[in-house]
Amino acid sequence: MKTVSTLFDLRTARLSFNGTVGLVPTMGYLHEGHLSLIRQAKAECEHVFVSIFVNPTQFGANEDLSKYPRDLERDLSLIEPLGVDVVWNPTPEIMYPAGYQTWVEVDALTHPLEGAIRAGHFKGVTTVVAKLFNAVQPHKAYFGQKDAQQAAVIRQMVRDLNFPLEVVVCPIIREADGLAMSSRNKYLEGADRAAAVVLSRALNAAKKEYEGGERSAEALRRKMKEVIEAEPRAQLQYVSCADYDSLEELEVVKGKTLLSMAVILGKTRLIDNFVLG
Ligand code: PAF
Repeated sequence: MKTVSTLFDLRTARLSFNGTVGLVPTMGYLHEGHLSLIRQAKAECEHVFVSIFVNPTQFGANEDLSKYPRDLERDLSLIEPLGVDVVWNPTPEIMYPAGYQTWVEVDALTHPLEGAIRAGHFKGVTTVVAKLFNAVQPHKAYFGQKDAQQAAVIRQMVRDLNFPLEVVVCPIIREADGLAMSSRNKYLEGADRAAAVVLSRALNAAKKEYEGGERSAEALRRKMKEVIEAEPRAQLQYVSCADYDSLEELEVVKGKTLLSMAVILGKTRLIDNFVLG
């Protein structure tokens, strides 16, 4: 496994491979969710690149950029046994040199849900992902379903800008109690960690109603809200029952539907989702 930082070294490494290349973009502090993306890339592509870059432009001014968990050595030791060919770990100066002024923005899909709360977040995500795609030129790129809106936004960008690659979205990996894996789970302490199970519990409660025949989107949103509000430590930001592709809130559930939510526990903001249909 080769670890590179500069664009020159990345391109030199990329040029040495002729077969299909899979890219797994990450911000590091890897967990089983990331490793599942790498394993799927490995199963589907001849060569696998992993990028590790905590992208400053997708963090808001009051977000956790400076304390976002980082541990490159640990990440490399987790990736090495999986047969990854190249790890790209650029610096912020490589990705955004002095005078940088070009941005990639997806429109309507970035307005609701996370976009309504985290202003500028998706502009940072799509810009860095476009730069990663341009540099690595992968045939397939792998993202987690946990960031469902991010996956939808990236699919849209790939379609709109004609990136010649396939976006592969892999299932959420959960802890034994149902908590969706995330690098930010590290921030959860004591009682907040125990209470964090409320997100998957709320999704499961809505799913059960759906399986029992409920098709009113408002009833499903109400159910999720009710479960979250019964947990005194949880501060609800939003619950949503939206069309899977457009992310528009539904009145009646039909076809592929995204149940999603954002909840604050102590100092940690968590998101989770479930796809119906
Ligand atoms: O999902 C993430 O870890 C990040 O948003 C991504 C896609 C690596 C872009 O920085």
